Amino acid sequence: MEELIEKSTSVLLNNWKQGFTIPTQRLYPFQWNWDSGFTALGQMHFNVDFAIQEMQNLFSGQWENGMLPHIIFHSENEDTYFPNYDFWNAQVNSGAPVKPKTSGITQPPVHGFVLEALVNKFPSNQKVLSFAKDLFPKILKLHQWFYTYRDPQREGLTIIYHPWESGRDNSPLWDNSLARIIIDKDTLPKYTRKDTSISEASERPTSDEYDKYVYLLELGKKYKYEERAIFDESPFLIQDTLMNAILIRSNKALIQLGTRLGFDVAEIEEWQQASIPKFNEKLWYDALDTYVVYDLRGQTQIKHKEIGGLCALFAEIPDLEKANKLNDYLQGLHARDFFLCPSFDPEDALFDSKRYWRGPIWPQMNWIVYHGLKAYGFEATANIVKNNFFELVNKLGLHEYFESQKSLVKNLEKGYGGSDFSWTAACILDLIHEQS
Ligand code: GLC
Repeated sequence: MEELIEKSTSVLLNNWKQGFTIPTQRLYPFQWNWDSGFTALGQMHFNVDFAIQEMQNLFSGQWENGMLPHIIFHSENEDTYFPNYDFWNAQVNSGAPVKPKTSGITQPPVHGFVLEALVNKFPSNQKVLSFAKDLFPKILKLHQWFYTYRDPQREGLTIIYHPWESGRDNSPLWDNSLARIIIDKDTLPKYTRKDTSISEASERPTSDEYDKYVYLLELGKKYKYEERAIFDESPFLIQDTLMNAILIRSNKALIQLGTRLGFDVAEIEEWQQASIPKFNEKLWYDALDTYVVYDLRGQTQIKHKEIGGLCALFAEIPDLEKANKLNDYLQGLHARDFFLCPSFDPEDALFDSKRYWRGPIWPQMNWIVYHGLKAYGFEATANIVKNNFFELVNKLGLHEYFESQKSLVKNLEKGYGGSDFSWTAACILDLIHEQS
């Protein structure tokens, strides 16, 4: 464990850029939204000032309407990533900051529970408490933005219009929605991907998928990143399990924190009262014993088992009966010699054990599922989730994502995607500290 702590700390220090952390060198050379939340959870164990700065610098990219972009381009000189700040051109929206430059879409709002963890660890540290008082209203504003702009039907479930917002870019969940997009090569702007010259192409999204990501980016830009017009036209409109579960979990954290710090939390309680029942009603799918995402454009559930459904545990959305079914599913995978938790169901025809979000194990997802299982007292499964993650990083390094089939892991020497990855390191540190 000592060696793992040392290695993880040095990854976070190497990826630190005087105020914020990049996920990994070259492949992701800027500040990513939910990555930074997890990164702060790791940093607080060796340097609380870093954790504070990480979050402050992330929120320096918040838009006037409350939206928190998925990438903050603190540097305008990096050229190893596409789409860069100039391609996003967030300035078409008058509420986007001039500096730092940002993207025009968001990512899962982890900040509420990250701030809660920070305050719980340093309950009487004045610097942490005054930082918490400063950040609380900004996180609240972000949540207000979600419920105002991303929930037009006032259902309590928010919408995403780009796969990147879900955090799981090329999940098979999005295949049907993306199939609605017919690419016209003459009108799609010319672009060059950078990711596939840094990382293995077989571990990344396909070029067809990339065209569609760019198409949806262009759609947002065309409408100045304003929801109403985008929603009228977008072929991709999803009520996502992961996104909503994370929002609900962070709402819960804000209620706890707000009460402690003297903020009014009535509005947040109202969101919870609408969101949790709606999540159960609209996103549970009996035949698969899991939560699934809802395709609002097609007015139908997208019926696959995958990691987003398991996030409901983390927000304590399921009753005990449903929670047991999710736990049984993970125990079943474990019994069939899979490391936990594959991002997509290995029994599903669309499973691909190597390709990004179509199957591999993601460290921050194990962190989320681990805490979800613990919340229900599923200690045995929680420990498998944690120990499988430790086993993988010990054997394969602090990578971005990992193979889940034990028979294949045996013959591998490294994980998939980027190496020396920040949230991998941060989740290790946080899990080790929680243990001790
Ligand atoms: C990929 C992941 C996303 C993450 C980003 C930076 O796009 O899908 O979840 O935030 O990389 O690590």
